[in-house]
Amino acid sequence: MNISHFIITGTSRGIGEQLARMLLENGNFVYGISRGDSNVLNKYENYIHFNFDLSDVLGIEHLLSKIFDQININNTGLICLINNAAMLEPLKSIDQCNAEEINKSLQISLIAPMVLSSCFIKQTDNVQTRRKIINISSGSGTFPAPAMSVYSTAKAGINMFTQCVGAEQSKR
Ligand SMILES: NC(=O)c1ccc[n+]([C@@H]2O[C@H](COP(=O)([O-])OP(=O)(O)OC[C@H]3O[C@@H](n4cnc5c(N)ncnc54)[C@H](OP(=O)(O)O)[C@@H]3O)[C@@H](O)[C@H]2O)c1
Repeated sequence: MNISHFIITGTSRGIGEQLARMLLENGNFVYGISRGDSNVLNKYENYIHFNFDLSDVLGIEHLLSKIFDQININNTGLICLINNAAMLEPLKSIDQCNAEEINKSLQISLIAPMVLSSCFIKQTDNVQTRRKIINISSGSGTFPAPAMSVYSTAKAGINMFTQCVGAEQSKR
């Protein structure tokens, strides 16, 4: 039987947790990535959790290798990466933000999804299995909002990144 496998970031709460729960209820395998874990998801046999801080962008390649070690990729109907985790903070005008806050927020909301996508495409390049990447964006990526410049910039970046990768992968 061909089973679908979903790698989802930010499954400890919120949209990521609910999305994972719905996919697990439908019999899919879910590989969740977040710093904390979820009591709701841990009850499912088909759920495997990876405690990981996505601001560690240099560790992402190794993380994804560990996840792919768990998947029999040639006996899979669909393999899907859902970049859901994001950081809303800092919520203040840019002159009030320090370099560390700006760096961390962009690492989690923009750089981590880019690195995850890069590794995901590399890891699945030679397989015939259907592949999909879903990036969770926000309306904030399309209009300017005071005190949200870092988050909105990350989401605008995600929008453009999604279009660029879509163009790169259009024949794949
Ligand atoms: N909620 C909304 O109204 C709304 C509207 C528009 C767009 N969105 C987008 O939808 C997505 C989910 O939003 P949400 O409201 O469900 O968010 P949320 O409730 O704040 O949950 C965020 C998730 O991301 C994870 N996360 C945060 N920092 C992380 C880190 N350093 N490393 C690993 N995981 C990290 C958190 O897990 P840990 O803290 O355990 O690590 C958590 O599981 C985001 O991309 C957001 O921009 C949400």
